[in-house]
Amino acid sequence: MTEAQPSDVGLMAVAVKAAHAAGQEIAERLGRERDVRVKGLRDLVTDADLAAQEVLLSAIRAHFPSHTILSEEAPGGGTPAGTTWVLDPLDGTSNYAHRFPCFSVSIGVMDDDGPLAGVVYDPLREHLFTAERGRGASLNGEPVHVSAIADPMDAIVGLDFARDPDARRELMGRLSALAPHVHTFRSIGSAALGLCYVAAGWLDGYFHVSLAPWDSAAGVLMVSEAGGTVTDLGGGPWAFGLPRCMAANRRLHAQLLRLPGLAQAAV
Ligand code: IPD
Ligand code: CA
Ligand code: CA
Repeated sequence: MTEAQPSDVGLMAVAVKAAHAAGQEIAERLGRERDVRVKGLRDLVTDADLAAQEVLLSAIRAHFPSHTILSEEAPGGGTPAGTTWVLDPLDGTSNYAHRFPCFSVSIGVMDDDGPLAGVVYDPLREHLFTAERGRGASLNGEPVHVSAIADPMDAIVGLDFARDPDARRELMGRLSALAPHVHTFRSIGSAALGLCYVAAGWLDGYFHVSLAPWDSAAGVLMVSEAGGTVTDLGGGPWAFGLPRCMAANRRLHAQLLRLPGLAQAAV
């Protein structure tokens, strides 16, 4: 099988152009009357999710008809095969439905060696985060790097809330374990942006207990290419689709996972 490389003509260019177009679609619909539907417990989908997905799918299919695509709102799914695009057309739908102005378009590209490329676009702030395997991470074309904060007491740690009651209980257990030891927490409501904010050094760490593959596919590469590390909550290696993650700069990551109760909280 011929694997795509970051230098393949157009792969990043297509991803960036598609993210911009999808982001514009989402932003334009924000002020209009929206169609908001419930698709599961605490799980919404809007006309903007579907419209943004159409923009992404048609751009990728036009340029890379042989590539596999996994997208949150598209039927099907399954496991990545060969070069695979993993799409979250609108990450932060609950925010979007409430007009809380934090959401993004997330595009991850994987191959048999793992994450290959990532693009996360916040259309309201015009923040375009990009990463390519072995080539670093950038915000609007300027390289970004994780923070240097090593002491948890100085750290701002991001998280987002699980929908499922058991997962939410688990999250609260881990949050309680961390709370006495860190500076403070932030919950942005878009996991893809949370990971990008670690890459940019705006958050020092980020954790989650119930990520979907499309929440993390681009953001995990962003953190590692910005010099950080992402593991599961026991410190084990990150793998595509894992629901639990801890992302941080390397020194802080080691300190956070050593805190009593974090790694051992009930699962
Ligand atoms: C959600 C957001 C949220 C996170 C959830 C995700 P969606 O994605 O990333 O921050 O806590 O786990 O499902 O549904 O808005 O694409
Ligand atoms: Ca998502
Ligand atoms: Ca989504």
